[in-house]
Amino acid sequence: MLNNEAYAPPLHSLPRSPSSVCYTPTNASKPLRATTTSSSSSVTMKNINSNNSNDDFEASAASFAPATLFVIYARNRIGLLGAYFSTVYVDVATLTIFSSSIKRREEEAEGITLIMGWPIIFLFPPPDSLFITAMAVISFTGCAHAGLSEVRGIHLQYSKFWKSGSQKSNQIYISARRGMQLAYTPPFLAGLTSLVFFPHCDDIRYLLLSSALIIHFLKRLLEVQFVHKYSGGVALDSGITITVSYLMSTVAAIYAQHLTITQGLREPPIDLKYPGILLFLLGISGNFYHHYLLSQLRSSSSLFRSHSQTNDDKEYKIPRGGLFELVICPHYLFEIIEFVGFSFISQTLYTFAFVVGTTFYLIGRSYATRKWYLSRFKHFPQKVKALIPYLY
Ligand SMILES: NC(=O)c1ccc[n+]([C@@H]2O[C@H](COP(=O)([O-])OP(=O)(O)OC[C@H]3O[C@@H](n4cnc5c(N)ncnc54)[C@H](OP(=O)(O)O)[C@@H]3O)[C@@H](O)[C@H]2O)c1
Repeated sequence: MLNNEAYAPPLHSLPRSPSSVCYTPTNASKPLRATTTSSSSSVTMKNINSNNSNDDFEASAASFAPATLFVIYARNRIGLLGAYFSTVYVDVATLTIFSSSIKRREEEAEGITLIMGWPIIFLFPPPDSLFITAMAVISFTGCAHAGLSEVRGIHLQYSKFWKSGSQKSNQIYISARRGMQLAYTPPFLAGLTSLVFFPHCDDIRYLLLSSALIIHFLKRLLEVQFVHKYSGGVALDSGITITVSYLMSTVAAIYAQHLTITQGLREPPIDLKYPGILLFLLGISGNFYHHYLLSQLRSSSSLFRSHSQTNDDKEYKIPRGGLFELVICPHYLFEIIEFVGFSFISQTLYTFAFVVGTTFYLIGRSYATRKWYLSRFKHFPQKVKALIPYLY
């Protein structure tokens, strides 16, 4: 019987991502991310097999990334920071997709990533994957675009904005609780199944990331059921957009982590996973606390609200307590902190792209929310900002 390990090529002969060219030499002594009990050679063999089998799938998934970007660029200006990050991703994605050979790809990309993306790539090294590169581009630009739309008054139609600006007479609405269950259940199940299908139980980052995602979406589902007191609904197309976005980003984050193991990527030079755990815990606790404060603004029990809700239970009031004294969306602020925690735990380019994109979205949504309060409450305190105390 053939012993795979005997035929495995050395790790340095493997195709590497453009960016890993930049950071690998400086970290030659760093341990591999794959802290599996198997030898590095068997990891290598697995990598080659999985690369071959994933190539067609990844190429087709990646091919629509530049098209997505082009459409978004054509329709909006996304600001200096957005342009910077997008340019990095466009560079990497375009080189990845259109270069005819991996060798040429690496040589060309090395110069560009060194100049433009080095600080990010250094801390959040990406695996060699067209699919993940494309997903990073799509997640970032999709979220940033949604945030910009919120600022421009085109809202995702849930919560306060569930009936805003809908021009479609045939718009379908579902109850907010149903909509949110729809949004959170698939990514929660994706997190659970990740532990079944990719059981890297001895890889600490993989375990932490999967567990954090499971806890995040389980908390959301429990809050939908037992904490939030909704007054309205969700437009079906917004609900589907949110569901697909959460599901794809959860799957991509887990898959990116899986690839760091199967491709034998080295550990980043600065280990952020323990600060990441702290940020995750701080973020999820602060987010829950402010959800609880919001729920106290309405009187009926969250469990039986659909049957017993009075008009008063549907009213909006100015939230008080906690960071609500300084910003109108402290739960978004803590969500961002929690997401930074995810990206520190994982340290892949995908989670970094996703957290930056999400931050853009929540900046936009909090701007729209503050504007909504200002228009609705004459005595809304001016000192209460949107998202960041005293600043924004
Ligand atoms: N990761 C992402 O991309 C992303 C995007 C969006 C949201 N989120 C997160 O999802 C969570 C919920 O977000 P959301 O936008 O739905 O929050 P939200 O609009 O503040 O609503 C949360 C709950 O509080 C109620 N509520 C809000 N303001 C109220 C007021 N003034 N008076 C009485 N009740 C009030 C809402 O009722 P109504 O339904 O009746 O308005 C809803 O039940 C947050 O933690 C947020 O960070 C994440």
